[in-house]
Amino acid sequence: MRICDTAEGYGLLSRLFHWLMAVAIFALFGLGLWMVDLSYYSPYYHSAPYVHKAAGMLLLIALVLRFGWRIANVRPEDADLAWVERIAARILHWGFYPLLLALMVSGYLISTADGRPIDVFGLFQVPSPGENKGLEDRAGEVHAWLAYLVIALAAIHAAAAVKHHVVDRTRVLSRMWSGAPKN
Ligand code: HEM
Ligand code: HEM
Repeated sequence: MRICDTAEGYGLLSRLFHWLMAVAIFALFGLGLWMVDLSYYSPYYHSAPYVHKAAGMLLLIALVLRFGWRIANVRPEDADLAWVERIAARILHWGFYPLLLALMVSGYLISTADGRPIDVFGLFQVPSPGENKGLEDRAGEVHAWLAYLVIALAAIHAAAAVKHHVVDRTRVLSRMWSGAPKN
């Protein structure tokens, strides 16, 4: 089993990054929506945001590692798509990285605006850049909009992948799921 990407498909590491992060991003989206409506008397009032922030920080590290792996690897050849689809796919794939980075940085800014660090499951702490009154609300608004945008784009991206698999019968989805064809 190939670890690295090849011209024909994605290697094991890129596929693990892609699918584990996709699951984590959808899960953090659901957790985020749920936790902001919790009442003070809910048993999850403190633990849900704690998990959201700590998992989000781990995801930020994963994003940086994934981006490094992406640019250090051969890029699988463009799928056999119409030119409009090819350009749209390229913009969307590359666009996910800065959008996710901005989503995670805005989350970090909400969480640390009171001057307190983020504890990551007791493993390490991410320091605050310093107390900044008012930043919490502005970063919170940006965070919510970015979260909706990322999920909307991910839904379009997933629908396109399924369409290429089911209707056009190309290997686009297979090469991200099971890698390059074995021959
Ligand atoms: C892929 C990553 C992430 C996703 C999809 C995500 C999603 C969300 C969503 C949907 C909300 C609810 C927004 C609302 O309706 O007001 C939220 C809130 C929040 N998120 Fe994230 N988030 C992510 C990463 C992070 C990170 C990395 C942090 C901090 C380290 C963070 C901290 C927060 C905080 C503190 C809130 C509560 C904001 C408030 O009280 O209004 N998030 N997140
Ligand atoms: C939040 C969720 C998702 C994000 C952020 C995301 C992001 C990405 C990115 C950045 C790429 C380019 C390769 C790379 O840099 O790793 C990619 C490729 C791909 N994704 Fe996703 N993805 C998500 C969910 C999904 C889902 C749910 C599906 C399918 C149902 C899917 C199917 C694919 C396929 C088939 C490719 C390969 C496309 C090609 O080779 O041209 N993705 N994705």
